[in-house]
Amino acid sequence: MSPSRPRIVAGNWKMHGSRELLRALVPAVQQGLPSTARCQVVFCPPAVYLTDVAALLSHPRCAVGSQDASAQQSGAYTGELAATMLAEVGCRFVIVGHSERRRYHGETSALVAAKAAAVLANGLRPIICIGETLAERESDRTWAVLSEQLAAIAGLLQHQRASEIVLAYEPVWAIGTGRTATPEQAQAVHGQIRRWLEQQAQQLGNPTLAEQLPLLYGGSVKADNAAALMAQPDVDGALVGGASLQADEFIAICRSAE
Ligand code: PGA
Repeated sequence: MSPSRPRIVAGNWKMHGSRELLRALVPAVQQGLPSTARCQVVFCPPAVYLTDVAALLSHPRCAVGSQDASAQQSGAYTGELAATMLAEVGCRFVIVGHSERRRYHGETSALVAAKAAAVLANGLRPIICIGETLAERESDRTWAVLSEQLAAIAGLLQHQRASEIVLAYEPVWAIGTGRTATPEQAQAVHGQIRRWLEQQAQQLGNPTLAEQLPLLYGGSVKADNAAALMAQPDVDGALVGGASLQADEFIAICRSAE
């Protein structure tokens, strides 16, 4: 973590949880955070629970986020959620391009970029996920895959709210597998992403942008590996799946980002 960059820990509940769980978990997490916490904590429950979670927010550093948003502003798109609607019910963040959306819902990098643009245009902060599969890593294609995913969102760096973008590197082989990237593996990729951002920002004549954007790591982050991951210079926080459903684990991860 850098002393100057924002720190963010987001809990992606995926399709888990219930009213009973959120009513216990959200207050417990907020109580477990220091009142002057530096890290921004984001709860991303299933969309039907967004208003329940928003109503429980009491800590100044806690916010609610959606797991997805439509690229469209409104219209005949059955089942979709517009960024304007998410903003209206209290969301401040939206995860876009999670590998499960890319894999099970066929989301392309171009669609992910369009979703992130809709999120930014409606005053919310996109958490844009990128990551390679095990086969891609083992065939030395990690950077080829990541640079294709990044190229699709390069245009967003010109947006007037570009400094609100959050990137999350989530190696697909580490998600839900208990097989975390080592801190060195995470830093190697995060450093490459930072260098890519520096080149882009330089070309846009906005060199400070690359320094400002938080890069989160995701994939089997737990209480016992979070501190070592976040000790890396370009790991500015975490996107947490399974461990975000247990108050003690999640609090410990958030505290590692202080
Ligand atoms: P995990 O999920 O922490 O359960 O591996 C991370 C994610 O998918 O964001």
